[in-house]
Amino acid sequence: MNNPAYPTDAKQRATRILDGCGGHSIGAYSDSAGVRVIREDIANYIRQRDGHPSNPDDIFLSTGASDAIKSIMKLLLTGKTGKDRAGIMIPIPQYPLYTATIAEYNAHPIGYYLDEDNTWALNIDELKRALNEARYHCKPRAIVVINPGNPTGQVLSRENIQSVIKFAKEENLFLLADEVYQHNIYAKGSQFHSFKKVLMEMPAEYSNMELTSFLSTSKGYMGECGFRGGYCEAVNLDPDVKAMLLKSISAKLCSSVAGQAAMDVVANPPKPGEPSYELFEKEKSDVLGQLAQKAQLVTKTFNSIEGVSCNVVQGAMYAFPRISLPPKAIQAAQAKGQNPDAFYCFQLLENTGICVVPGSGFGQKPNTFHFRTTILPPVEKIQVMMELFKGFHQKFLQTYK
Ligand SMILES: Cc1ncc(COP(=O)(O)O)c(C=O)c1O
Repeated sequence: MNNPAYPTDAKQRATRILDGCGGHSIGAYSDSAGVRVIREDIANYIRQRDGHPSNPDDIFLSTGASDAIKSIMKLLLTGKTGKDRAGIMIPIPQYPLYTATIAEYNAHPIGYYLDEDNTWALNIDELKRALNEARYHCKPRAIVVINPGNPTGQVLSRENIQSVIKFAKEENLFLLADEVYQHNIYAKGSQFHSFKKVLMEMPAEYSNMELTSFLSTSKGYMGECGFRGGYCEAVNLDPDVKAMLLKSISAKLCSSVAGQAAMDVVANPPKPGEPSYELFEKEKSDVLGQLAQKAQLVTKTFNSIEGVSCNVVQGAMYAFPRISLPPKAIQAAQAKGQNPDAFYCFQLLENTGICVVPGSGFGQKPNTFHFRTTILPPVEKIQVMMELFKGFHQKFLQTYK
């Protein structure tokens, strides 16, 4: 604290957090919901982001967003078998935490397909179809929306979010908004709209709906995933349910206080005029600027290759291109007992060293094939990777044509 090498605003932030900790140490357990001043900083962040009130008592810190998502999903469970099981609507393709947790909890996944022809937006007719088919198998309870999307890289429009909220209201579904990529927006014209802001600006019948939203230290420009910092804001929660939620997280004592401190740094970054501000802004815009450049580069290159099409990477950290595979490649995959997209990805790995994840790992419409790649490697490496990919794909088509 006395070392002049550290900027004074950083030391003030550290002091504030330590003063909020038992024994002035992040080595002490905190309140189960998290250190009070950190929850205040998060509420302040949300207030500034949305222009609507946020209450520190509606916020609980967690071990990454994953832990908070699992805590909320646990509250939604109904029965253990057949039609009594809770049905949770999840996007397809989806981030596998959701299918894994639903399986672990013996709940029922209600997959709704994202609309690839409409930049992976949510389609309300498709939501209705998925829900109506699932009614015979479970008690529909909640809908999960991932915005910006993983693995699909879309950023939802305000109108699309409004329609989803109306749908959730009509069907009495609890809303889980996975917004861990809210700082990762790249495409011109795309803007992050939080579910909370959209909900708060709708008529009262919607603005009092129960909603949970999640953020973490793992993504954005910070990428501090090893800290396992995260939080959930739960708005309009029924008081009895909220009490039960607190009781349930109390059994875990608290999330890592180091992770909470990292979450505070995200929620309360350097402000204009403070000594750290310029360097912070420079690093943040360098990281986000490079991600935006790579998002553009991969979209453009994939779309220039025969048999590959890719929606614009509007946000998050991924491209999810569609590949058309020749019948002979599909037969070769079947002979090996592999999904055709997995066969393709293994061939890509073995021939070029490029590692991508088959679309079947996230779910996709039957008879369509995709893979997911991140845009995280440095620009120079992505350029080389795209060239290698192009060469591989052309050779693959030649071999199996
Ligand atoms: C959409 C989505 N939600 C949640 C998570 C989990 O993040 P955390 O590291 O905060 O647990 C991830 C991680 O990749 C993700 O992509």
